[in-house]
Amino acid sequence: MAESSNHISQRKIEHLELCLTDDVAFKQKTTGFDKYEFIHCAITEVEIGKIDFKTNFFGKEISYPFLISCMTGGAKETENINGQLALAASELNIAIGVGSQRLALETKQFNESYKIIRKNAPKIPVLGNIGAAQIAKLKDYDGIKYIAELVEADGMFIHANPVQELLQKRGEPDFSGLLRSIEKLVKFINIPVIVKEVGAGISKDAAKKLLEAGVKGIDVAGAGGTSWAGVEILRNNEVGNYEFWDWGLPASYCIRTVAELKGKFDFILIGSGGVNNGIEAAKALALGADIAASARIILHELNKAGAEGVQILIKEWFEIVRKIMFLTGSSSIEELKTNKLIRKEKLY
Ligand SMILES: Cc1cc2nc3c(=O)[nH]c(=O)nc-3n(C[C@H](O)[C@H](O)[C@H](O)COP(=O)(O)O)c2cc1C
Repeated sequence: MAESSNHISQRKIEHLELCLTDDVAFKQKTTGFDKYEFIHCAITEVEIGKIDFKTNFFGKEISYPFLISCMTGGAKETENINGQLALAASELNIAIGVGSQRLALETKQFNESYKIIRKNAPKIPVLGNIGAAQIAKLKDYDGIKYIAELVEADGMFIHANPVQELLQKRGEPDFSGLLRSIEKLVKFINIPVIVKEVGAGISKDAAKKLLEAGVKGIDVAGAGGTSWAGVEILRNNEVGNYEFWDWGLPASYCIRTVAELKGKFDFILIGSGGVNNGIEAAKALALGADIAASARIILHELNKAGAEGVQILIKEWFEIVRKIMFLTGSSSIEELKTNKLIRKEKLY
């Protein structure tokens, strides 16, 4: 039976509340960023003041290689959050993703909660968002075009979230037909399609299949940050499924291995999943990501210190990235990607 709009909207609120109040991080598993150290360069000649973070992201120039990951929309209460996140992203001139627009396919009731992002951020890259479970079953793609136009999207995220769907009450763990449908969508829609996970990671093999289907971006959203299995386990409030709390491939592993496809395919690699400080953002980039991204920590900062707090936080992170680039002798992000990390065990 199709799920009602009210249920979906209510679920969005519960997700936000749990991400703000409960400990929904992975328990034992880490991102793996902690397993690496930067290789110090005693003879660095990098002029720190000349480091330039500007990069092209789906046709627009952004000032830092950073994306505020898809979080919300689809409930009255989310309009203000999206509005504030968009203001921060616009001031920083970085990219931002919209939370799942599934509800906009069914009702116009919550359209403002999505549209506010483009209203508050007219120039930056804004990416629309829809679930793999929805895409897999589509017969035509007019609805996807409509939700993309709603935010004047520069690209469309498809979130693949099998663990979450599997553990979610009224979840839809049926993705049959997904790859074929993505292939059709890519041909139909005139903006790039990017596939993301939500915290369990995308393997090199899965990424290869997606890129062969014509996808132009992969956001690995690997394990070690927010556990969406954890969120659903807490929502279900019942014993069981705890074995899956820590399911997934660590973010660092996903970035490193998916980056190996760079020579074969032309795509943007987004490094995310537990990127919670400047050092981790630098490690995500050094492992091969073109841009880094974060979700839950940004939501926390917004809650604590508003849009300005989010701006300050991201600026501080990139001051750390700048210092790391100086200390590793990397004058550009491309250079930071070339053998600047070492596995810790090799140091001793
Ligand atoms: C409150 C919240 C809501 C989210 N909603 C969505 C969503 O609607 N669509 C989506 O693709 N990802 C969603 N995500 C997943 C994030 O985009 C991200 O991939 C994931 O949380 C891992 O990043 P993190 O460890 O930095 O939180 C959400 C994350 C949070 C914290």
